[in-house]
Amino acid sequence: MFEKLKAQPADKILMLMQMYREDPRDTKIDLGVGVYKNAEGVTPVMRAIKAAEHRLWEEQQTKAYVGLAGDPAFSDAMIQLILADAVPRNNVAAAATPGGTGAVRQAFELIQMANPDARVFVSNPTWPNHLSILNYLGIETVSYRYFDAETRGVDFEGMLADLKGVRRGDVVLLHGCCHNPTGANLNLVEWAAVIDVLNAAGAIPMVDIAYQGFGDGLEADAEATRLVASSVPECLIAASCSKNFGIYRERTGLLMAISQDTSAHALNQDTLAFLNRQNFSFPPDHGARLVTMILNDADLRADWARELEDVRLSMLSLRQDLADELQRLTGSDRFAFLAQHRGMFSRLGASPELVEQLRTQHGIYMIGDSRMNIAGLNAKTIPILARAIVDVGV
Ligand code: LMR
Repeated sequence: MFEKLKAQPADKILMLMQMYREDPRDTKIDLGVGVYKNAEGVTPVMRAIKAAEHRLWEEQQTKAYVGLAGDPAFSDAMIQLILADAVPRNNVAAAATPGGTGAVRQAFELIQMANPDARVFVSNPTWPNHLSILNYLGIETVSYRYFDAETRGVDFEGMLADLKGVRRGDVVLLHGCCHNPTGANLNLVEWAAVIDVLNAAGAIPMVDIAYQGFGDGLEADAEATRLVASSVPECLIAASCSKNFGIYRERTGLLMAISQDTSAHALNQDTLAFLNRQNFSFPPDHGARLVTMILNDADLRADWARELEDVRLSMLSLRQDLADELQRLTGSDRFAFLAQHRGMFSRLGASPELVEQLRTQHGIYMIGDSRMNIAGLNAKTIPILARAIVDVGV
């Protein structure tokens, strides 16, 4: 049997992590995988997580199963964090999943189950694993224009024109904030225009929100998702706690299926639980429990929000410092977009050949499409990166 297996295409992000690890140069700079790092290059356990873990260790009496959709208290807390009062709680079916990727995967399976003819529209570019999972499941994908290679902003006209090609029942995958891989985002007026196009055609939005709190703040980053949820008859939302709670390996995420028709709620909820049962049975609990404890405790929550805000501000100042340094070296504003992008990533707009030169000649690791993890920088490496960008001629 095993001799029939075929080698699968390597995941670009994970492959780069491996190459970085194997590079012996001590001057190497890792701008690859989307993991937050502080100025010392460490991905810290957040203070509130440590405190919640301590409390959990003291208080938890059992590790028995919770429920197929996870603990309803986790769903409640996350729905409140992401949606606030955008939709009545009764309209939201929700299930905990293994990380944001688990939520994305379950969402795609739900789409396939509900409408095998649905096509999924994805931004060009999108997170590579979106496409990989869609292809794996045999779901037809259509890409819509998103990134303007000239301005390094959103090609909004192109995006709207391509989205006008949706058919009733198609699903359009949107990044709720901090677009991965580009860092370029829609404003709320543009979001409203996208929603109008989807509503007019009867297409369903699916929002992937993996970086709430990393862009313009916890509330601002959720506004587009709230607008979608309150303006369409049905939508899906896949949320991740990996980044904003720093609990990557705990695999903590939530899938929401929202319908304005409250009579759909019970069936939607049962379907999410069924899909969990088929794929992994009960979702992981540890991370979800910590998140619930933090969101429901005023002190822990305030401390978490403070630390997250520090993380966000530090990434913003890294962006600004890099843009300033490049301005100084080139005497032009052509890298000003770096300070305007939001979230962990920016697409530099360098060709794969130049990305390769940055790696081989300068030990700078970014994804082949020139996505940089801004959090991989610090005061010492910003001038090195800026000089290398100028040297290779980006
Ligand atoms: C990324 O885009 O780098 C992160 O979401 C990590 C991953 O799993 O790819």
